[in-house]
Amino acid sequence: MQFALTYKSQAAAYSQNRNLFAMWSSGGWFVKRSILRRCSHALLFNLTLTTMATTAPVVAAQKVLLSADVSRAGAKIDRNIFGQFAEHLGHGVYEGIWVGPDSTIPNTRGIRNDVVAALKALKVPNVRWPGGCFGDEYHWRDGIGPQRVITLNPNWGGVIEPNSFGTNEFMDFLDQIGSEAYVSLNVGSGTPREAAEWLVYMTAAQPTTLAKERAANGHPAPYKVGYLGIGNESWACGGNMTPDYYLSQLKIYSRFVRNFNPAQQDKQQMLKIAVGPGGSETEWGYWTEAVMKAYENRQWSWDMDGLSMHSYTVVRWPPSFKSVGFGETEYAQILKTTLDMEDLVSKHSAIMDKYDPQKKVALVVDEWGAWYAPLPGSNPGFLVQQNSLRDAVLAALNLNIFARHADRVRMANIAQMVNVLQAMIMTDKEKMVLTPTYYVFKMYVPFQDATFVPVSFDAGTYAHDNITLPRLDAIAANDKAGRLWMEVTNVDPNEPVEIEVNLAGITAKSAAGETLTAPKVDSVNTFAARNTVAPKPISVKVQSGKVTLKLEPKSVTVISVEQ
Ligand code: AHR
Repeated sequence: MQFALTYKSQAAAYSQNRNLFAMWSSGGWFVKRSILRRCSHALLFNLTLTTMATTAPVVAAQKVLLSADVSRAGAKIDRNIFGQFAEHLGHGVYEGIWVGPDSTIPNTRGIRNDVVAALKALKVPNVRWPGGCFGDEYHWRDGIGPQRVITLNPNWGGVIEPNSFGTNEFMDFLDQIGSEAYVSLNVGSGTPREAAEWLVYMTAAQPTTLAKERAANGHPAPYKVGYLGIGNESWACGGNMTPDYYLSQLKIYSRFVRNFNPAQQDKQQMLKIAVGPGGSETEWGYWTEAVMKAYENRQWSWDMDGLSMHSYTVVRWPPSFKSVGFGETEYAQILKTTLDMEDLVSKHSAIMDKYDPQKKVALVVDEWGAWYAPLPGSNPGFLVQQNSLRDAVLAALNLNIFARHADRVRMANIAQMVNVLQAMIMTDKEKMVLTPTYYVFKMYVPFQDATFVPVSFDAGTYAHDNITLPRLDAIAANDKAGRLWMEVTNVDPNEPVEIEVNLAGITAKSAAGETLTAPKVDSVNTFAARNTVAPKPISVKVQSGKVTLKLEPKSVTVISVEQ
């Protein structure tokens, strides 16, 4: 009961904060203008959809032609767009990653072996930690040494935070899965000194008191911190700051929170990521404008390398869509909403281009994914939801958007890694199951650091219940070994699609691939039936340099082409 109340106020706080921010940005009238604008958009949108639905051509039997021109290769798809997020929230860290060294669940120094093995296969490039909203209330000293400080987690259910998973455990976890640290600083309730000392503790090689304390805690060598988040959602749970107030904090933290690791001075320098927008509407544009303008006019004494952006697929707050037990309408609604990511990335990239035409600052989508209603019977503050085939399609659509914006979107973190929101993995005591989203990330491994290759096609639309979506989505990329990789998503949950790929710039000799689909749009993997949604090999033909294959309805397919 207490949890439910905590969660309700949390959900209310979200909408309230977002609205407060809207009111702050223009003295109140902007909110009304935005509502009016939404109404007129909705009217226009409905009219358009009605027209499209009645005139949409029947394309079921048609072969769709895709063209990829390898000679027009573009930007590198930064492996960091496949980053993940592990917050101290529900069973994300405790039970999901950390079971403690005395657990009967097989573990290495307290970290679950099954989860590590599964994550290793994803080649997770970076993990954002410890929050989220939790990050702005995290005091790192509570989580080091033999005697941990027991605190509370007021953001997420008000439960006990044992702090048994702290800095050293996080770094050990990263070592075990082969990933890099993206540490989120406490700007909301911490101090610049606390944050600066955390970095000394983690990165100093010289025998300072803090470096010696790290050594006494089992790690004499300095840790590598690849990415530093300067606050989290500072416009809401991170401290309700205005852009100007946040900028004054950003400049202080950017100046004083230094990385001393000798291996990170010239090469592999730590990248600093500033808090950015939480939506696409005009008030968020103001935030991006303010931070990017400050960046353009910066002095030698501070810097930033990335601008964070958060966007969940939620349709409306508080999240009310079911994560399982839904039908085609909810499938189409959620996918329609997730495609708003394109608009969001384009709008904020355009603002960034004004102040940073050389694209030195990355747009870092460090919280994205589907946010549904909590599973009945779960603690609402723990954000537990199922993960279905719909989430696999959703993940592919978002990753493709990031890849198409590879020149600006160079990092992203799905929310979250284990047991929370759109998770890769779900656990229950000693049991573990891999979700459909996990398999999408696995299938996309070859796209990490591959070079984007433009793909063009016209596959028409899929329409259901007045909702119209592009029927197909596709990206392609060249890996370092000269192989071409292509991902094609068939959004249509009812009709298969035959595709023929024409390749310019290479002569295809052979091809192979795998596809992820399942009987229903809400099919899930459970502890009892783990492989309902798992990739299977697909037959791909190559004839006279042309590649042909048939895509199952509601499927995500990745093929590789040898030349
Ligand atoms: O991922 C859950 C929460 O969503 C994060 O803590 C916060 O940053 C965001 O609002």
